[in-house]
Amino acid sequence: MKTVTVALGERTCPILIEGGLLARAADHLAPLVGKRRIVIVTDQNVRAHLATLEAALDAAGIASEAIVLAPGERTKSWATLEMLCDALLAFGVERGDHVVALGGGVIGDLVGFACAILKRGCRFVQVPTTLLAQVDSSVGGKTAINTRAGKNLIGAFHQPVLVLIDPDLLDTLPAREVAAGYAEVVKYGLIDDPAFFAWCEASGAALLAGDAGARVYAIAHAVSAKARIVAADEHETNGIRALLNLGHTFGHALEAEAGFSDRLLHGEGVAAGCALAFAYSARAGLCGAADAVRVAAHLRDVGLPDGLAAAGITASGARLVDHMRHDKKMAAGTLPFLLARGIGQTFLDRHVDLADVEAFLDTQAR
Ligand code: NAD
Ligand code: GLY
Repeated sequence: MKTVTVALGERTCPILIEGGLLARAADHLAPLVGKRRIVIVTDQNVRAHLATLEAALDAAGIASEAIVLAPGERTKSWATLEMLCDALLAFGVERGDHVVALGGGVIGDLVGFACAILKRGCRFVQVPTTLLAQVDSSVGGKTAINTRAGKNLIGAFHQPVLVLIDPDLLDTLPAREVAAGYAEVVKYGLIDDPAFFAWCEASGAALLAGDAGARVYAIAHAVSAKARIVAADEHETNGIRALLNLGHTFGHALEAEAGFSDRLLHGEGVAAGCALAFAYSARAGLCGAADAVRVAAHLRDVGLPDGLAAAGITASGARLVDHMRHDKKMAAGTLPFLLARGIGQTFLDRHVDLADVEAFLDTQAR
């Protein structure tokens, strides 16, 4: 069992990582809940894992109720939030109760937000079931829903009390979703850990093929990095947590152009966005061209998009920059960009000229 801690004083959150952990979840939930009932929220694609968790709780004498939502990004909505809060209230959930979010980033973000506002805050446990959620969204307490105006615009910071990560749950995840989550793994190497990027180059393919050791190593490494960053900047105010947005400004524009649809998954947008951030940095003379080539080559090798063409984006630079102007990070007419002085040397630049970004995007192959 690997254990990582997000050190946040009274909001400190342990993260446990082990293959087969779901079937042993009651060992870790019982000390938290005692004899109280647990409500589990999940989506229809995760039903098989819900059955494992319910059986484990039942065997330990812990009563549980389940709420099963429709899968997909549209579930992160006002309408589903209202329905979920009503259902949790109907179950009589109290502040001292624990709600379990069993699912990917959609379930984790929605359930976390519901728990942030239900009775002004109740406890929740993250049991992430996608690679993206296991290496990123289940850790750090960002919760949100989407609105007509954009993604994740209504939300709160609300830390889970426990995160249980069972890498074996990825056995049922479609390969495309595993690859999309892997983009967030590579991101940690690109931010500040060149040795981990080299590990990704050597072992990323094994991870994607389901190698259990590679999965545990990558998840524990990614979660440790995220825990360190969140402990240093929980509310993203001092520029440290912002590093986690590497690839997201370019990626967000591509996702917006694709209509935030299955045409381009979030992680695929992040992959192409990382490649573009390095290509832009190389063009600006910040990092060597060889670094940008190396990043793109690894993403391509594992089947992730390494730029506009591979992401299926044909829009002009002007149109993509227009999407960027609607990014929620836009402040006082400027958009912060994560750029790189090399692999593992990412930094925040608040003075990037959007006209220059537009010209750069127009040079990229479609
Ligand atoms: P998701 O939750 O939609 O899951 C992807 C798909 O996989 C869904 O169809 C889901 O039903 C299915 N699925 C989940 N687990 C499965 C399993 N084990 N087996 C089979 N199918 C399974 O998407 P995601 O990629 O996990 O998360 C994306 C969301 O996360 C976005 O809304 C994004 O905004 C959010 N996010 C949040 C943070 C954060 O810090 N809070 C960080 C990154 C992303
Ligand atoms: N996924 C970015 C963050 O948690 O800050």
